[in-house]
Amino acid sequence: MRLDRLISNQPQYSHRTARCLIACGRVSVNGVVLRDTQAVVDRFASVRIDDLLLRAGQASLYFMLHKPIGYLSATSDSTHPTVLDLFEPGLRAHLHIGGRLDRNSSGLLLLTNDGLWSRRLTEPRIKIPKVYHVTTAEPITADAPALFAAGIHFAFEGLTTSPALLQSLGPCEARVTIYEGRYHQVKRMFHAVGGRVVSLHRERMGDIVLDPELAPGESRPLTGAEIRSVSPDIAKSG
Ligand code: URA
Repeated sequence: MRLDRLISNQPQYSHRTARCLIACGRVSVNGVVLRDTQAVVDRFASVRIDDLLLRAGQASLYFMLHKPIGYLSATSDSTHPTVLDLFEPGLRAHLHIGGRLDRNSSGLLLLTNDGLWSRRLTEPRIKIPKVYHVTTAEPITADAPALFAAGIHFAFEGLTTSPALLQSLGPCEARVTIYEGRYHQVKRMFHAVGGRVVSLHRERMGDIVLDPELAPGESRPLTGAEIRSVSPDIAKSG
C-alpha cells in the first residue's frame, strides 16, 4: 500500500496532512525515515509518525524477541517482569506469545496479534521444529540420543513425546530439536534420562532463527518471508 494512503486511512490524518508529514521527514518505516509520499510499504511494515506507532487498519503484528532470563512468558504478573514489559506500551495490549519459554530460559520468542498464525506455530500436528541449546549439570549419557529418538514417557500426562533429536556438542552440552511444546518439555526429557538442565536457550522455531543482532531484551518485526514460513498462505502485501 502507498505510504500516504496508509496514513490517511487513519481518521485523524487527511491526505494532505499525510503528504506533509512524510515530506517533513516525520514518518519512518521499519525505523527508516521515508520522504517519498508514494513509497509502497507492505502490510507487515511498522510505520511511525514521530514516536507514535501507527496501526495500519487491520495490520497484523509479528515480532521476534530475544527473551532474557528472568522474564515470564505471560502478559501480566504481579511478582515478575513479563516479556510484554519489553515492548512499548502501545503494543502490549495487542500481542500474545506463540510458544512460551520458562522464566529461566532465554532465546527466541515470537509474539503476534494473529491467533491463527500462532496456533500453527504451536500445533503439534504441524510439527514445526523447535531447536534449543542445552547445558546440563552432569555429562549427558551415551544412550540419551536413542532415548530421545524413541520418545520419553511423561507419566503425568500419560503420553510419550514424539521423536526428538539430541546432538551432542560436548560432555554437558547439546542441541535438541523437539516438535511439540509441552510443559517444561526439554527439562523433563533430560530429567527422565538422568540429567539436569542448567541452561536452555531457544535458537530457532521452524525457519525463524534468532537474529544474532538482537541483544537480550531486544526485538524486531519479522520479515514477510519469516511470517510466511509459518503460514505460506499469508498474502505478500496488503
Ligand atoms: N522446554 C523447557 O523445559 N523449557 C522451556 O522454556 C522450553 C522448552
